[in-house]
Amino acid sequence: MPFSDRKRPILVTCPKGLPPFLARETAALGLPGRELAAGVLCEGDMRDCMRLNLALRTGHRVLLELARLSAPDPAALARELSRLPWEDIIPADGHLTIDSSVQNEHVRDSRFANQKAKDAIVDRISARKGRRPDSGPDPVGACLFLHWRGEAATVYIDTTGAPLSRRGYRKMPHKAPLQETLAAGIVLATGYGQMAGQAENVQHFLSPMCGSGTLAIEAALIALNRAPGLLRPDFAFRHLIGFDDKVYAELRREAQAGAKKELPGRIIASDLDPEAVAAARQNARTAGVEAHISFEVCDFRDSTVPAEGTGVCVLNPEYGARLGDSPRLEPMYEGIGEFFKKSLPGWRGFVFTGNPALAAKVGLKPRRKTPLFNAKIECRLLEYELYQGSRRAPKPASNPPE
Ligand SMILES: C[S@@+](CC[C@H](N)C(=O)[O-])C[C@H]1O[C@@H](n2cnc3c(N)ncnc32)[C@H](O)[C@@H]1O
Repeated sequence: MPFSDRKRPILVTCPKGLPPFLARETAALGLPGRELAAGVLCEGDMRDCMRLNLALRTGHRVLLELARLSAPDPAALARELSRLPWEDIIPADGHLTIDSSVQNEHVRDSRFANQKAKDAIVDRISARKGRRPDSGPDPVGACLFLHWRGEAATVYIDTTGAPLSRRGYRKMPHKAPLQETLAAGIVLATGYGQMAGQAENVQHFLSPMCGSGTLAIEAALIALNRAPGLLRPDFAFRHLIGFDDKVYAELRREAQAGAKKELPGRIIASDLDPEAVAAARQNARTAGVEAHISFEVCDFRDSTVPAEGTGVCVLNPEYGARLGDSPRLEPMYEGIGEFFKKSLPGWRGFVFTGNPALAAKVGLKPRRKTPLFNAKIECRLLEYELYQGSRRAPKPASNPPE
């Protein structure tokens, strides 16, 4: 590959709100980067891209910059693209997918830019090799990403393909599941991953409205230091000319090497809905962490709380997308505040919600509010510190008669 062992800009994309967590992840892999609105910009080579794809929990796509082009219009874009050595990058008998983000006065639909770019690239490959790759929107082979603003176009090799949020374990999504990357970001924001390694005070993770189990599964993967990319069957980098299976196998072994066998505390996932718990259990099995999570069917107020140690409890209650939902959900949010105070003294409680009015019904003062986006909805992860003995002490009984 002409580009593979030179250091180049790497743009890792992610949902808004997650860049601080993603930047910590890339730095931990030795690739410190600059936070952008929906991504992190760092620098590295193709090997680094493979490591990022295997390890990242909060990133969506790992894009390796290939070229910056001056392209005032689609004809110029095609001309510039046809100068690049695509026959050394994309196999003539492979498959090509192009995705883009375009703001150019001559392009109304980014699919038109994708088509123009694809034609220029496959025509060049066909002229040099006598065969042309198939193409289509399904990221089943080599992938490219085009970022085009006015006259400036940047072409990236998309080394990921289907976004990293699709870990491959969620065969049963149940209702309103969190995206895996967002769930991982929530768990990292609670500090659970860091605390889980500390021995002095056993740390547990409770997910009492577990739905399809995403938070509990991501918590297990984090605490066990398991690289989520090891669960994926494929990455787009495997479909590029020069892909080295031996290097990939070595990087997979490296990613596996740091994994732990045991959790320091317990992970307990429960839900009122038996179907949700069945889905969560199945998903945990697919992710290889079923043995590390205890599952229960119960109201969140009856969730098992381990007698020893403390930890974090994360609730992702429904927050009502439709008008008029709020009054129905208010008692549940009030119940969360009661549950936190009564059952979890000394713990840290978290509520992830997109409805500030309902969040106020929890009735406790949040210590921190972390803004995160669930698709387009701006949400908050609210943290409550639940002091030991914070419940009001019972009034002393009046002096007994002497
Ligand atoms: C928004 S979903 C959680 C989605 C989950 N984070 C995921 O990624 O799949 C809310 C869940 O709360 C559950 N739930 C609603 N009321 C409950 C209650 N009183 N006790 C326990 N679970 C409840 C629902 O069955 C639903 O699965």
